[in-house]
Amino acid sequence: NWNMENFIADQIDLIREQVGDKKVLLALSGGVDSSVVAALLIRAIGKQLTCVHVNHGLLRKGEPEQVVEVFQKQMGANLVYVDATDRFLTKLENVADPEKKRKIIGAEFIRVFEEEARKLDGIQFLGQGTIYPDIVESGTKTAKMVKSHHNVGGLPEDMQFELVEPLKMLFKDEVRACGTALGLPDNMVYRQPFPGPGLGVRCLGAITRDRLEALRESDAILREEFDKAGLAGKVWQYFTVVPDFKSVGVRDNARSFEWPAIIRAVNTVDAMTATIEQIDWDVLARITQRITHEVPGINRVLYDLTPKPVGTIEWE
Ligand code: XMP
Repeated sequence: NWNMENFIADQIDLIREQVGDKKVLLALSGGVDSSVVAALLIRAIGKQLTCVHVNHGLLRKGEPEQVVEVFQKQMGANLVYVDATDRFLTKLENVADPEKKRKIIGAEFIRVFEEEARKLDGIQFLGQGTIYPDIVESGTKTAKMVKSHHNVGGLPEDMQFELVEPLKMLFKDEVRACGTALGLPDNMVYRQPFPGPGLGVRCLGAITRDRLEALRESDAILREEFDKAGLAGKVWQYFTVVPDFKSVGVRDNARSFEWPAIIRAVNTVDAMTATIEQIDWDVLARITQRITHEVPGINRVLYDLTPKPVGTIEWE
């Protein structure tokens, strides 16, 4: 009979059989799928696995720290942590076009991962967090895609690895259950979706470090207040966006000239269409109060009321 304990035990046997005494490499983003596959591979082959976590400088507040804490400190994994923030932000300097930004982030990501892979000797396998919907939906999804997506996979020809994909028969809720059974924390297993280009597509136009920081801080406050209001896990995706224009305000009896933060909170089944979450007015007021008082550079908070279509979920 099928249950999660049996599934994990079977997969551990299968992974050991496939890998033998060889080494496996895994790009660990900290998203649900890569985190669960990492936890499973650590259980199966321990130090034969090397995880590479590339911080492109566009992650949410606390994310890279949590990856290091959970996988390196708690689970004792071989983890290569690469802080590539400067590389990415330099490449993105003065680039305002959304598709150009996406392409730069995707290409640079593969380049950094490839460089790390070349430093490691004797890798024969590549772990991947492929899940069942990735296989069955990939045809229809790409046809309808409006934006260029990036997920790791495109490594150079001379770097061909055999794939280890132990989650490929699982649906998302089963992947989460598997993660929980393997001891991953709830906030990792029930994390909301986060795009590959990360905060890069929410810091609109040409990214600057100060505006990116304002975005990261406002997003952290939004998530904290959603948690407190019991909305985390109920609303499908919620985040802030910081556009590249300023407006006049007044702070401590003096003129201010700062960016707005835009709140986006949507519900969807398949991300192809989405409706707006009707956030309680008091919650919105508290978020506005906190963001305008705690985040340097933000003097207004706006609430995006646009469903998809006509708007996409992300702004770029
Ligand atoms: P849009 O903005 O197209 O987003 O309505 C639909 C969903 O896809 C997520 N998204 C991405 N996910 N890589 C991803 O893995 C990407 O490059 C990417 N871009 C957008 C978005 O957050 C939303 O959940």
